[in-house]
Amino acid sequence: MQKKNIRDIKVFGQRVFVRVDFNVPMNENHEITDDTRIRAALPTIKYLQEHGAKIILASHLGRPKGKVDKNFSLLPVQKHLANLLNQNVQFAEDCIADETLKQVNHLINGEVLLLENLRFYAEEEKNDADFANKLASYADVYVNDAFGTAHRAHASTAGMVQFLSKNTAAVTGFLMEKELAFMDKALTSAERPFIAIIGGAKVTDKIGVIDNLIEKVDILLIGGGMANTFLKAKGYEIGESLCELDKLELAQDLMKKASAKKVELLLPVDVIIASEFNAKSIATTVDTAAIPADKMVLDIGPKTISLYSHAIATAKTVIWNGPMGVFEMDAFAKGTLGIAQAMSMVNGITIIGGGDSVAAVEKAGLAEKMSHISTGGGASLELLEGKLLPGIAVLSEKE
Ligand code: 3PG
Repeated sequence: MQKKNIRDIKVFGQRVFVRVDFNVPMNENHEITDDTRIRAALPTIKYLQEHGAKIILASHLGRPKGKVDKNFSLLPVQKHLANLLNQNVQFAEDCIADETLKQVNHLINGEVLLLENLRFYAEEEKNDADFANKLASYADVYVNDAFGTAHRAHASTAGMVQFLSKNTAAVTGFLMEKELAFMDKALTSAERPFIAIIGGAKVTDKIGVIDNLIEKVDILLIGGGMANTFLKAKGYEIGESLCELDKLELAQDLMKKASAKKVELLLPVDVIIASEFNAKSIATTVDTAAIPADKMVLDIGPKTISLYSHAIATAKTVIWNGPMGVFEMDAFAKGTLGIAQAMSMVNGITIIGGGDSVAAVEKAGLAEKMSHISTGGGASLELLEGKLLPGIAVLSEKE
């Protein structure tokens, strides 16, 4: 079932509360270092402006632990957004003060008001009913465009919906709609061959994802630190490499499940090793069967890049989550960059599922070549695990 979207409802003259995810990285001078998430919300904001809505934007920034902490203020975002929109953006210093309701009610059509960080109140993350009710009092229409926060059952992402008055719609914005459309298509009716590439440090973080994807994909490529646990489970020497010894049985079960489902699960055939987890450490390539006991694996090797790239070239749908090695260090970045390169040449749908893989694709200068780059790391992971996200569950279905 598809969710209702802002284009399906009347917004003219309405107070439209939009939960956005403006949780953007900033440097120590509170300058925004990556505004992707703000830009990603612009289509929704501009549509609402063009259609005469009164727009109330609400977001969290970081984890200020339920207290006012100016280091986590959304003021830099207000300024940045005003520049992007080339228009004044009003600011409410306290997201639930009496004064804020006045500001909301004074908005004229097309005007934009940004509320201060919702997480300055502990009630936001506790999904407190009074807090949620207060936020709901600002809304004639509720829009969730915060895909990156859709896996959180917080007051602004889920709780407030039950306090909206009976005829108030709760709908997706364009970013949320796009994120869901790509994921939904891949997970329910992907064009085949369908390949998933799963990397990252720990198997623990990706158990649910692998378990769910084995049911859906044709080929599963494993890389990153978590590949070591699989290799060890198969009896390989992995030396000093990162490994979860308590997950060996689980890795074996996942490999058995893949084989039972006729899913090709590929592991590295060669790796880049070093003596230390250190950018200056000397990188050497060895076959997976020849990892010395005193070395650690920090990337996949060239034969593996080639093996994985050939598999990827056959795909009509590819999802990638998690780097293949320690890509922050140049000596151990080739595997991750090689996968980005292979994905950029796929003649089909390519989805980058948030987090570190996004940074890798950007580092490789290949972001433009992908069909979809998700703005939500945690949210994408939970969707890939097959979970229904709380911020999506509460939204109205299309009739
Ligand atoms: C994110 O950056 O993943 C989202 O904004 C959610 O933030 P959180 O993990 O602090 O809830």
